[in-house]
Amino acid sequence: MVVLAVALFAALSSCAFGCSGNTNSTELGLWQMENQPLDVQLAAVFKEMESLKCEQTTLQQQHVALTQMHLKNHQKRAQEKVETHMVTYDTNHDDEEEEEEGEEDSLNLSDEDSKRRRRDPCFHYTVLDQAWRATNTTTRSKMCDRNVKWKGWYRLFYKGLSLQMPERCVPVDKCGTHAPLWLAGPHPKIRDGVVTRKVCGHWKKKCCAFPSTPIKVKKCRGNYYVYQFTAPTSCSLAYCADINTIVCGRCRRNQSCVSRDKINWRCKTKRMSSRKVHFFASFPGQITGKMNRIRYSKVLVNVGRAYNSRTGVFRAPVKGVYQFFFSTQTANVGLKTDLWLVINGYWVAVSHTHVTRPSTVGSLSTYMTFLRRGATVYVTHNHGRSWANAASMTIIFGGSLLAQSK
Ligand SMILES: *[C@@H]1O[C@H](CO)[C@@H](O)[C@H](O)[C@H]1NC(C)=O
Ligand SMILES: *[C@@H]1O[C@H](CO)[C@@H](O)[C@H](O)[C@H]1NC(C)=O
Repeated sequence: MVVLAVALFAALSSCAFGCSGNTNSTELGLWQMENQPLDVQLAAVFKEMESLKCEQTTLQQQHVALTQMHLKNHQKRAQEKVETHMVTYDTNHDDEEEEEEGEEDSLNLSDEDSKRRRRDPCFHYTVLDQAWRATNTTTRSKMCDRNVKWKGWYRLFYKGLSLQMPERCVPVDKCGTHAPLWLAGPHPKIRDGVVTRKVCGHWKKKCCAFPSTPIKVKKCRGNYYVYQFTAPTSCSLAYCADINTIVCGRCRRNQSCVSRDKINWRCKTKRMSSRKVHFFASFPGQITGKMNRIRYSKVLVNVGRAYNSRTGVFRAPVKGVYQFFFSTQTANVGLKTDLWLVINGYWVAVSHTHVTRPSTVGSLSTYMTFLRRGATVYVTHNHGRSWANAASMTIIFGGSLLAQSK
């Protein structure tokens, strides 16, 4: 490290001392030399070229030195992992991707947030990068986790790649031990927070021959898990790292890692949570003759806020199948009463009443259709007379999104 730093310093300073001036001043010189004899200008151009070459060499040296430093750092880190097996994770230096993806900007963290974060095992765990724990390894030496002084939280890695515990019975003698410990239950979801899970050691055809001390598990943002391991009950038992779940560490934020058989895992893009849209509104008065657009002002339900009580217009917020209903109540006035449902300017369904005897009739009409996002829906009162008051709920308009489509 020190040697490299010196080399870098040498590379940096060689330009200052060895190269003849920097590019800017040479350029300036050339400008001023426009009226000089050609050979003088030529000499200046050569000097400029030399200077640029020198600079290029310096930059190349610098690049080489930095690359070496980077590599050495990497090797050193990898070696540390191999030698001590456990390296305390530090968010400030490692795993830049996680930081990038994090919803919280670390610079904008309030005190409260950073306090919460300091206690969060998702940010404070020990890296457990031991290749022998992999579900596909069989070693002669049998490891026993009873001999480990477990403390705090751990995250499983295989040669630097994040993975998780198997959720299935692992064959005997795998994971560098006799009875491999697997998680007897599903990994939690983020909203579950910290959960307690049973672990089982497989031995002699019994998947849970050694029911071990339960452990705690937490799912973290960025598709990884942290485990609070405890010493198992006997030897030789050891916690497994499922090699098939390496793929999970590469899932994107909007994906989750899924498996049907708990053997083959894949990243699956989360389905968009379907929108909920429901509205129900009434007109609390009488309508006589023509009313181009009924403004149902009394809103009882407006989930998704797609209905505008000021204009009386419902606007489809997403593409999908919608159902609408609208009603009226008329009496014997010797007139036809027609209300139309209007979608995107087209009159698509009517509520028609024509009462000739002295009586009162209510009429309810429904309509179901496929709508694109942004489609407008309202009800028009074409002619006749409709009656309602604030409590009667006879002139109403409502609807629901039944199924959202992609
Ligand atoms: C276990 O799986 C990893 C990743 O697929 C592979 O690199 C390694 O060689 C495998 N080890 C054995 C012993 O099969
Ligand atoms: C998931 O996120 C990636 C970027 O991280 C983006 O390109 C992709 O469109 C997203 N997919 C969905 C369905 O949101």
